[in-house]
Amino acid sequence: MGFLSDSGKRIFITGIAGFIGFHLAKALKARGDDVAGCDSFNSYYDPILKRERAKILEDLGVQITACDICHRDQFEELVDKHRTTHLVHLAAQAGVRYSITHPEKYQESNLDGFFHVLEVLRHRPEIKLTFASSSSVYGLNKKIPFSESDPTDHPANFYGATKKCNELMAFSYHHIYGIKATGLRFFTVYGPYGRPDMAYFSFAKAIREGKPIKLFNHGKMRRDFTYIDDIVDGVVAAVDLGADFEIFNLGNHHPEELTTLVSLIEHHLKKKAIVQLLPMQPGEIEVTYADISKANGKLNFNPKTSLEAGMEKFLRWLS
Ligand SMILES: NC(=O)c1ccc[n+]([C@@H]2O[C@H](COP(=O)([O-])OP(=O)(O)OC[C@H]3O[C@@H](n4cnc5c(N)ncnc54)[C@H](O)[C@@H]3O)[C@@H](O)[C@H]2O)c1
Repeated sequence: MGFLSDSGKRIFITGIAGFIGFHLAKALKARGDDVAGCDSFNSYYDPILKRERAKILEDLGVQITACDICHRDQFEELVDKHRTTHLVHLAAQAGVRYSITHPEKYQESNLDGFFHVLEVLRHRPEIKLTFASSSSVYGLNKKIPFSESDPTDHPANFYGATKKCNELMAFSYHHIYGIKATGLRFFTVYGPYGRPDMAYFSFAKAIREGKPIKLFNHGKMRRDFTYIDDIVDGVVAAVDLGADFEIFNLGNHHPEELTTLVSLIEHHLKKKAIVQLLPMQPGEIEVTYADISKANGKLNFNPKTSLEAGMEKFLRWLS
């Protein structure tokens, strides 16, 4: 990485103790921005990992407060106290599979929570918003690679529906109240300090422990795995651009089969996976593949990390 800070930006990050929030905060702090943030530290996955990330950030001088964005008064106070110039909103209930069994969690953090973020900004239109959307908005779209101009009216799960709603909600607040907002459609982000609920992480752990892994769609799923440092480059560029209103894909532009991911893990750990091949799961999509020409043109987004190199870094961290 190694960005040049072009101003004294005062950046507030929601979901700062999450995987992407942690890496983003580190990078922004390293280039000299003033960074603070909040996180609910919920137990969707082990909060010990969130506390560990938060401790590293606090040791670097990043101020972190335990706060749910749905507690608007507290959230608003924190944004004001930091004299925020840029808000990066990453707090959300993530995960496709969990949205099938727990849609209410997505209603709370992704719909109600996003509404609170917009309301805070309605009264502070000078603060620029950058927010996390997802490749899940493409849902049942069959055309690949996915382009920002493709239709996104048929989400395959409720998680994708909430992320699409966020884009629409942000546009309406931009149109009516003049807030500046950029939505980033992230594609399967992976790396050290990653999310234990994601396949690359749970597969690596299971293979290491000699436990079986489930490969849905008989291993024929393809994902545009995107390394965390490349994602952080894209988010930082979006913050710096501070567009009036834009939506960007941030993906690797290089989908890989899950079986390739498994082979890389096996090779690195020198251990064979015990694989259960299963049919497609409801709510899943077969392939994700980002067209990144728009992000390349406006954000100079140019992912550099191959799945092999990125997984090696992840597995080194995990060991
Ligand atoms: N990691 C990916 O592959 C990926 C892909 C597409 C989109 N995204 C989106 O990017 C964002 C960050 O994802 P991540 O992978 O870092 O996930 P994460 O779960 O590690 O981080 C999200 C953080 O937000 C916090 N949070 C959740 N609800 C909250 C609330 N109501 N108030 C305050 N904090 C709350 C959680 O405790 C967590 O620490 C999310 O919006 C996610 O939907 C991630």
